[in-house]
Amino acid sequence: MKYCNIGEMNLSRIMVGCMRIGDKPLPQTESLIVEAVRAGVNAFDLADIYGGGDSEKVFGVAVKDLGLTREDYFVQTKCGIRRSDAGKWYDFSKEHILNSVDGSLQRLKMEYIDILLLHRPDTLMEGEEIAEAFARLKESGKVRAFGVSNFSAAQMRMLRSCGVKIAVDQMQFSLGHTALVDVGLNVNTGKDEATTRAGDALEYCREKGITLQAWSPLQWGWFEGVFVGDERFPALNEKLNTLAEKYDCTPAAIALAWILRHPAKMQAVTGTTSPERMQSLCKAADIDLTREEWYSLYLATGKTLP
Ligand SMILES: NC(=O)c1ccc[n+]([C@@H]2O[C@H](COP(=O)([O-])OP(=O)(O)OC[C@H]3O[C@@H](n4cnc5c(N)ncnc54)[C@H](OP(=O)(O)O)[C@@H]3O)[C@@H](O)[C@H]2O)c1
Repeated sequence: MKYCNIGEMNLSRIMVGCMRIGDKPLPQTESLIVEAVRAGVNAFDLADIYGGGDSEKVFGVAVKDLGLTREDYFVQTKCGIRRSDAGKWYDFSKEHILNSVDGSLQRLKMEYIDILLLHRPDTLMEGEEIAEAFARLKESGKVRAFGVSNFSAAQMRMLRSCGVKIAVDQMQFSLGHTALVDVGLNVNTGKDEATTRAGDALEYCREKGITLQAWSPLQWGWFEGVFVGDERFPALNEKLNTLAEKYDCTPAAIALAWILRHPAKMQAVTGTTSPERMQSLCKAADIDLTREEWYSLYLATGKTLP
């Protein structure tokens, strides 16, 4: 396994994403965790809204059943997305952040959360209020570190100017969604990819030592499906299959290795609920793709280089 430091915590660079465990049988989730831990994974990604709160409940029960020592694994959860009859809205108010953490701790049946992320930018956010909420959570020992998700560089810069500490930015990134790297590869060209869809987050995080986490590492588009094995991506799958043979792993593990190879030292947040797939995906941490292989996978997505 490969690891990275977030504050004083040493987290695995493959994380188990728990968005899809809420309605899965408990023994399946327990096996998923067992396989992940066996491969060296110690970091788990949740959110208050996953499964309407059920993902946190199931995770809390599973780690207790398995007898895992709390200090041996890291729990990350998120807050800030709300729903009501009026629809969806974002809420980074101090009151909501504090309430949301209490709700997560109750569902997890835990004393503290290791990392709390603001899930998706709230345009009504007020940095000072967030800074106050984070300070209260830190002082009370309920949360050890903080971060954001789906934030641009400008948004992180704005919050940091108000005293908000940001250790993580979790962004969609995969061979099926390459916006994080597209812009840097196409600076000052007339190509669509030169548009800063990811808001310079890659460069900003590298400069400031903020850990990037890649969510949905195997999906293309907006949860359109898994690109691995999908006949709509023949060139990409041919390349994934060739490299899988070379490195003696699955094509999905190559897709993960592509993320881990980036010098930003990102974490990849996997979403499988299958213990077998989890085990095979973890092989990605043993693979170091060459530069030529990395770029050949990028080109196989249909992207071009100037
Ligand atoms: N911050 C954000 O805004 C945000 C947004 C979305 C997700 N996330 C985080 O990212 C995590 C991962 O997202 P995701 O679930 O979309 O990620 P993913 O790993 O790209 O997709 C996992 C899904 O693909 C399926 N799958 C099909 N073939 C697979 C294969 N060969 N290997 C692995 N999985 C395969 C899995 O099914 P099986 O379960 O049957 O294997 C599962 O339904 C989430 O759990 C969540 O923690 C964060």
